[in-house]
Amino acid sequence: MTSYKIAVIPGDGTGPEQVKEGIKVLNAAAERNSFKLEMTAYDFGGERYLRTRETLPDNSLEELKGFHAIYLGAIGHPAVKPGILEKGILLRLRFELDLYINLRPVKLYPGVDTPLKDKGPQDINFVVVRENTEGLYTGSGGFLKKGTPDEVAIQTSINTRQGVERCIRYAFEYCRKRNRQKKVTLCGKTNVLTYAFDLWERVFHEIGSAYPDIKRDYAHVDATCMWMVKNPEWFDVIVTDNMFGDIITDLGAMIQGGMGIAAGGNINPQGVSMFEPIGGSAPKYTGKNMINPLAAICAAAMMLEHLGEEKAAQTVENAVEQVCARHLKSLSAGEMGYTTSEVGDLVVRYI
Ligand code: IPM
Ligand code: MN
Repeated sequence: MTSYKIAVIPGDGTGPEQVKEGIKVLNAAAERNSFKLEMTAYDFGGERYLRTRETLPDNSLEELKGFHAIYLGAIGHPAVKPGILEKGILLRLRFELDLYINLRPVKLYPGVDTPLKDKGPQDINFVVVRENTEGLYTGSGGFLKKGTPDEVAIQTSINTRQGVERCIRYAFEYCRKRNRQKKVTLCGKTNVLTYAFDLWERVFHEIGSAYPDIKRDYAHVDATCMWMVKNPEWFDVIVTDNMFGDIITDLGAMIQGGMGIAAGGNINPQGVSMFEPIGGSAPKYTGKNMINPLAAICAAAMMLEHLGEEKAAQTVENAVEQVCARHLKSLSAGEMGYTTSEVGDLVVRYI
């Protein structure tokens, strides 16, 4: 029987509660589809940091490379200064494991409320391919004369030919495999960021010309936000840089029903990849059994697909769809009509 080694990082706040339901569902899907999952837990997060001042030990990072995939809950602790855990754990994993794609599906399931008037599941079904290792996220920059009236703060967006190329190529390949509208939209800002997005635009057309079956489309990031609200049905695959991708996927999460269901994959096609709900650790709900675990469950489904267990992934997605359509009153924490663990049980029931 095929067996997969999964590293699990439950993390902070409601991360562990979400991951618990995800694992419940993963085990049910594995049993149903005759494969095995061997999980190893890692306690990275705020509590460990407060205890040891350690975010991510170097040897653990090496160890993580030996897994088939990583399953992450959420990182972020109210007692830790913003940036420390994000940079020390989440971003460090993305950079050091070279998880250069952040794949974020924006899909509205039947029965789920969207804030967009007159839009339904047939209109909201696209994927954002966010570059995940460059742009404004590299930490390149610094201060001059910090704390003085002459202070200068510089934060540089790094865009490498290779980094942009591999991201755009992934987007075209993914679009072909997805086989829907056969359209990739480059989301940029060529009218202002005339260096960075000049490179993106040139590479986009260069790589894209090798995919004659796929239409090439362009939208500035501000206009992308507008169209995501007004005409989300126009999008199939959106490819963009790290910062714009971060911003537009929060908007994407809202139009697909909220953080309760939005999931993503941090992918290195040649190495180990990491799957996570895209929302934060929601500390105020910690331990209350109120949070919606569907985002973590959808991340688990993405992980199964990535592992090559496509049938199992589909089974989980179908189960999520059934639970949304037939049971949940809302996707928001505390308004679902069910507790966190009951939602996990429901998904398992449909599996
Ligand atoms: C995300 C998050 C992270 C990001 C934060 C927590 C550093 O917002 O995964 O989208 O900005 O990438
Ligand atoms: Mn974000």
